[in-house]
Amino acid sequence: MNFAERVERVSPSATVSISNAASELEADGVDVVDLSVGEPDFPTPENVVRAGKEAIDDGYTGYAPSPGVPELREEIAEKLRADGLDCGPENVLVTPGGKQALYELFQTLVDDGDEVLLLDPAWVSYEAMAKLAGSTLQRVDLAPYDFALEPALPDLAEAVSNDTSLLVVNSPSNPTGAVYSEDALRGVRDLAVEHDITAISDEIYKEIAYGTEATSLGSLSGMAERTITLNGFSKAYSMTGWRLGYFAGPEDPLRPVRRGRSAPKHRRRRSGDARGLPRAPGHAV
Ligand SMILES: Cc1ncc(COP(=O)(O)O)c(C=O)c1O
Repeated sequence: MNFAERVERVSPSATVSISNAASELEADGVDVVDLSVGEPDFPTPENVVRAGKEAIDDGYTGYAPSPGVPELREEIAEKLRADGLDCGPENVLVTPGGKQALYELFQTLVDDGDEVLLLDPAWVSYEAMAKLAGSTLQRVDLAPYDFALEPALPDLAEAVSNDTSLLVVNSPSNPTGAVYSEDALRGVRDLAVEHDITAISDEIYKEIAYGTEATSLGSLSGMAERTITLNGFSKAYSMTGWRLGYFAGPEDPLRPVRRGRSAPKHRRRRSGDARGLPRAPGHAV
């Protein structure tokens, strides 16, 4: 079988390799502390488990509308407003996990030859997604600054070029756990505005921060129109296997993502109809 050239751009995930190695050792009875995959060490909360079971019993098993169930988008928008974002349900798209959200975003926001800026060390999947989208990577190493962003702002300014189209900010950061200060994020804002750069603010670990609160980049003045905020349920609610994430941003960049998703398979009968169950709210055809 022949494979597309683009798959060759991506190396196997280091996280998955380490996780597989840990599983093999565990199968051999070795006591392993596995720090590879970001799997919270608490179970999905009981009320969430119960609601999930009830929803399945109630027939919510069909395709949801492609942007997500309206009530969920409404609730997500409310959470994001509490984070300081100017956000309504129309700004939110629900995805099968944050990773899928990022894939869709890179495919939508980045062209061949564009430069994507990462703050290093960065979550391994950004690199794969940037390469799949045909972009090149610029990295700003935070290690010499004890993983803080503020002292690295001059390096960031130097790394920006005319080809930079996207900057990924992940606070709290995977893998370092660093939470970037508001001053540091203001510095990022100034650069993004000056060079007309779009930012992805990956806030998947926002709810797992100790003794501090991570500022949402999109809440800073001048950033609402150029920031896509990404989050999900995997880490905050230990729902990694449920595959539920979302992103939110100004409507313009969301439009092409919606277009890509509006395949005919999403237009089907409402869930529940076949069993004479009440229609699942929000499952519009
Ligand atoms: C920094 C970061 N962003 C996004 C994700 C995506 O998480 P999920 O696809 O489970 O929503 C992960 C998962 O480990 C992550 O570490």
